[in-house]
Amino acid sequence: MRSKIVAGNWKMNNNKGETQNLLSDLKKGLPATEAEVIVAPAFVNLAQASEALEESSIQVSAQNMHFASNGAFTGEISADMLLSIGVDTVIIGHSERRAYFGETDDFLAKKVETALSMKMRIIFCFGEELEDRKSGSHFEVVGNQLKNALFSLPEEAFQSIVLAYEPVWAIGTGETASPEQAQEMHAFIRKTLSQTYSESVAQEISILYGGSVKPANASEIFSKPDVDGGLIGGASLVAADFLAIVKAI
Ligand code: PGA
Repeated sequence: MRSKIVAGNWKMNNNKGETQNLLSDLKKGLPATEAEVIVAPAFVNLAQASEALEESSIQVSAQNMHFASNGAFTGEISADMLLSIGVDTVIIGHSERRAYFGETDDFLAKKVETALSMKMRIIFCFGEELEDRKSGSHFEVVGNQLKNALFSLPEEAFQSIVLAYEPVWAIGTGETASPEQAQEMHAFIRKTLSQTYSESVAQEISILYGGSVKPANASEIFSKPDVDGGLIGGASLVAADFLAIVKAI
């Protein structure tokens, strides 16, 4: 089901007390909205978040997970561990994981497979770098990222996947893709899904935009027909800003 979604990726921010404060401000201030609202705190604060939000419509996502079910992977977290604390959504493929932790499309495909086999919902991130856009290869790069990590999946898998297009040059830089650039890429993604799978996969999937979304630019970006919401980094750390972005949808 295609739904509107605003998700906050907190990255490596907020200790226990800060997590508590931000969650409490979000709960208090959450406006009536048709959008699904999701927050992704750091691993150590997920259990706390999941408890604090038990009575709230705000959902909790992890920022990452390992593809193995368990074993000798020091420092890693499994799908089962997440599910056991009530977290059934996971961000996979964030550009920071790709850039700083060497996560390749093939590696991400394994994570996707595991998450799906554990019946988790995936927010799958991808997007081109600045030089790809400058050289005009951004559609090809995005098409390949999707193909390599997702296009071996059966059609029904896409019911559990949300896509997040995040041009790397717009993440944390203050530089946003223009609403037209976002719309153009989202339309391309839908066309690619329609050609690879079916029109219903293309129309049913939620495609989020991420990269310097702020209260000031959110409503224009969200007004585009193929943009179903946003994955928000920096602005999700300030309750008033995140709530203003939720209101903008
Ligand atoms: P940003 O991050 O909103 O700070 O640009 C977005 C993201 O990395 O998901």
